[in-house]
Amino acid sequence: MAGLTFKNVFKQYGKSAAQVFDADTTANLGADSKPDVDSTLRRVASVHNITYAVNDFSLNCADGEFVGILGPSGCGKTTSLRMVAGLEDVTKGQILIGDRVVNDLHPKDRDIGLAFEDYALYPPLNVFENIAFNLRAKQLPEAEIQKRVKEIAPLMKVEELLSHKPAGLSGGQKQRVNIARALVRRPSVLLLDEPLSHLDGKMRQILRTEIKRIHTQIKCTTILVTHDQLEAMSLADKIAIMRDGRLQQFGTPLDVYDNPVNVFVAGFIGEPPMNLHKVGIAGSDKEKWFTFPKGIKIRVPSKYNDAVREGDEVILGVRPTDVLITPDESGATTVPIAVFENLGDEKRISIEVGPEEYLTLITEDEKRYKKGDPIKLSFRETKTHIFHRTTGDRIRGKE
Ligand SMILES: Nc1ncnc2c1ncn2[C@@H]1O[C@H](COP(=O)(O)OP(=O)(O)OP(=O)(O)O)[C@@H](O)[C@H]1O
Ligand SMILES: [Mg+2]
Repeated sequence: MAGLTFKNVFKQYGKSAAQVFDADTTANLGADSKPDVDSTLRRVASVHNITYAVNDFSLNCADGEFVGILGPSGCGKTTSLRMVAGLEDVTKGQILIGDRVVNDLHPKDRDIGLAFEDYALYPPLNVFENIAFNLRAKQLPEAEIQKRVKEIAPLMKVEELLSHKPAGLSGGQKQRVNIARALVRRPSVLLLDEPLSHLDGKMRQILRTEIKRIHTQIKCTTILVTHDQLEAMSLADKIAIMRDGRLQQFGTPLDVYDNPVNVFVAGFIGEPPMNLHKVGIAGSDKEKWFTFPKGIKIRVPSKYNDAVREGDEVILGVRPTDVLITPDESGATTVPIAVFENLGDEKRISIEVGPEEYLTLITEDEKRYKKGDPIKLSFRETKTHIFHRTTGDRIRGKE
């Protein structure tokens, strides 16, 4: 077993960075000069308009830890895993398994288990042989192969299927075999790329629980790539959120949910999504207000008193469960309810704060509201976030 580390990893597809770099340095530097690799690469990137699929990515997954990599389509998740597996070369930076740099190691020497979205099982082989395939390739003794497959099969609940061919298996069963095949190698690091994305809702749920159970049993360092935030939040010890090849935030699911570092993470994590609105700031030192386009005022939590000033414009972020109906908020604007939805345990209320711009709140309030009812709002002090209007970075208040 071992941890996994990315150290300032870049991946550029297409023209290799080395080619561009060589062309550029030969053209611009004398034969004897020693190029400054970092600044030259940066300059080359801007001149040639190079985009990186993975851009200065650093992350440490401790031994036995389960890390979820999450982000929108095309943000570099699969590329990151493929570099760990040795299926893509690393343009710049280092990947370490334990304390060994693996950049130049052959994939088969990296001690990695892989289960990607497409099951890629061998159709002519039965389940047993599919699971045993890599062990046979490594020429393990027959007795050891038998022992290992019989150990992993009940763990993955495929022991009844060992004599079946893949064609007769359901999607969920195929994926179990796929994961069993990765685990049977007893890898240092297990890489799972969207392993559940082909499955229907119920099967996803079941297999998700299985993956969690197996991880608690065998404690293999695991990286799971997904664009399903629930999957990442429920399975992983820590989640990494990527955007455009760059790491945005890395932390426990709760930390990322409660303390998003920027607007992107704030909007990406959480269902229903966080309310994010461009607002103005009005008021004196003692009492400040968020002002919305429709002239609505809602109190700024006092922790931000020193962080914002009258006339500022910021992005306000508050989750629907942290918007409160408060009869006694003196000074707050009274607003009519635009939409009221009764979902049983919880009620969803929307307020129109600007043209076609709504703020949503979720309440367990027993009161029977209806469209048009006047209410006053406040925000839960500790759970109100503000972000810089242009950079989107979080603005911190007093803790
Ligand atoms: N072989 C390739 N050649 C050129 N560009 C590629 C190649 N593979 C990926 N890319 C580009 O690299 C970027 C990252 O792709 P990647 O597959 O890592 O994204 P992803 O986060 O896994 O997305 P998805 O959620 O859709 O699977 C994308 O812009 C993609 O178009
Ligand atoms: Mg992918």
